[in-house]
Amino acid sequence: MDRIRFVIDGEVRTVERFDPTRTVLEYLRETEGRCGTKEGCAEGDCGACTVALGELVDGAVRHRAVNACILFLGAIDGKELVTVESLAKPEAPAHPVQQALVECHGSQCGFCTPGFVMSLYAVWREGDAPTRSGIEQALAGNLCRCTGYRPIVAAAERACAASDRSESRRVATAEQLRAIRPTEMLAIEQNGRRFLAPTGLDELAHLVLAHPDAVLLAGGTDVGLWVTKQQRRLPTVIYLGRVAGLADLAVGTDRIEIGAGVTYTDAMPVLAKYHPEIDGLLRRLGSVQIRNAGTIGGNIANGSPIGDSLPALIALGASLVLRRGPVERTLPLEDYFLAYRKTALAPGEFVARIRVPMAAADTRFRTYKIAKRFDQDISAVCAGFAVTIRADRVVDLRLAFGGMAGIPARARACEQALIGQPWTQAAVLAALPLLTQDFAPLSDMRASADYRARVAANLVRKFQIETSGAGPVGVLALAEAQP
Ligand SMILES: Cc1cc2nc3c(=O)[nH]c(=O)nc-3n(C[C@H](O)[C@H](O)[C@H](O)COP(=O)(O)OP(=O)(O)OC[C@H]3O[C@@H](n4cnc5c(N)ncnc54)[C@H](O)[C@@H]3O)c2cc1C
Ligand code: FES
Ligand code: FES
Repeated sequence: MDRIRFVIDGEVRTVERFDPTRTVLEYLRETEGRCGTKEGCAEGDCGACTVALGELVDGAVRHRAVNACILFLGAIDGKELVTVESLAKPEAPAHPVQQALVECHGSQCGFCTPGFVMSLYAVWREGDAPTRSGIEQALAGNLCRCTGYRPIVAAAERACAASDRSESRRVATAEQLRAIRPTEMLAIEQNGRRFLAPTGLDELAHLVLAHPDAVLLAGGTDVGLWVTKQQRRLPTVIYLGRVAGLADLAVGTDRIEIGAGVTYTDAMPVLAKYHPEIDGLLRRLGSVQIRNAGTIGGNIANGSPIGDSLPALIALGASLVLRRGPVERTLPLEDYFLAYRKTALAPGEFVARIRVPMAAADTRFRTYKIAKRFDQDISAVCAGFAVTIRADRVVDLRLAFGGMAGIPARARACEQALIGQPWTQAAVLAALPLLTQDFAPLSDMRASADYRARVAANLVRKFQIETSGAGPVGVLALAEAQP
């Protein structure tokens, strides 16, 4: 197949011959003339380009907000694309979300407004009247410089209180989506560059082996920026989003198995059920738009020292199933990272699944993210800790950090000093100086080396206090306790 098809405003659109890394935003503004969708940052940060994607899930259409600026056009094959123009036809009354924004004075210069409309549209479409914190989360990926958020939140509350969700249109869209469901490989080629989208796991394994230099594309929340910000020309892109089985998620008695194509949004409820602590961490990863597209597989494969999911997964003892051609191998996640941006992935190999063990009943697990903002910010330091105590002694301890070295890594010396010790403040204080053997952090724009070293030690102390029955501890109390 050398063309894509998607539904827009109730019509099936076919697009042939396009640049393999053309973004949906470029297509909307330059080809469709839909300039309501704005470009602010072109890197997934501001939300001005937000659109909603409709997909068939269990026979019904489900809509999610995504950033069009870092979404490649080939990735919307077989989906419904909803833009701000889809909601506001000149002859029709304004959409309830738009009407509420008008009534609540939720717009001033208006540049951000289409993005807010689309984020709220997804909430309005999918949610039962959301809570205040649900609305705040839904809007964490949308920046407004002039109106202020109070009237926008008020508009969200007003719009979502309205009950009519126009179900009839959804049934018709479901039929269209069924008719254009991708069944064979998509291969778009232009000027010697390719966008390949297989539909089966074996087909994917064969393609990756045949094109070991290809860039694998999952949610594109890292790869998209290589194109929009670094202006890289990617010769061959292999898209994982249509591969049946790669987005499967299975819960067994001893582990959760997460396909590499599972988005954060889909993984979070399951992970949160068995490891509630990780939910708070993942809610701070990017924004709703980023989590709707981005995958844990991409966070791992990207090999960044500051991927937020990595310390938590290492602390939980996660492992990876890697596949090369027909052959699978399993590797502990902590052994996957070799050096800065260098991983154990062999040419022609890809991440197939992530295995997250169930924690033992007597294991205590915590995650911490230190960043300048609560939402939508990259960590200065991120940590995942797990301790198992039996007969008043530490029998297992995993102190995993991101942002402290060129790779996500465990504090081995510190851990070793605490094994066999009682889990007390005194024991932890005695072991903390060993963190200087474990890590020599860098200074960069996010934090100084000294800050990182101090905060890492404080986090271990906080963990000990929180898991030894003393309850949560505030940052202030720790700062006061600094020697
Ligand atoms: C605005 C914004 C905010 C962000 N905030 C955060 C944050 O708070 N914390 C954080 O950790 N990250 C953050 N990120 C980074 C990004 O969202 C994550 O790293 C995400 O998990 C990447 O997943 P993806 O599916 O989008 O990967 P992609 O961009 O598709 O791919 C990333 C890398 O992984 C490779 N890859 C993907 N899947 C596989 C596979 N199955 N096998 C082998 N290789 C593969 C790709 O080739 C590429 O090298 C942010 C990004 C943006 C744009
Ligand atoms: S233009 Fe800013 S998120 Fe897309
Ligand atoms: S109304 Fe001006 S940026 Fe939001």
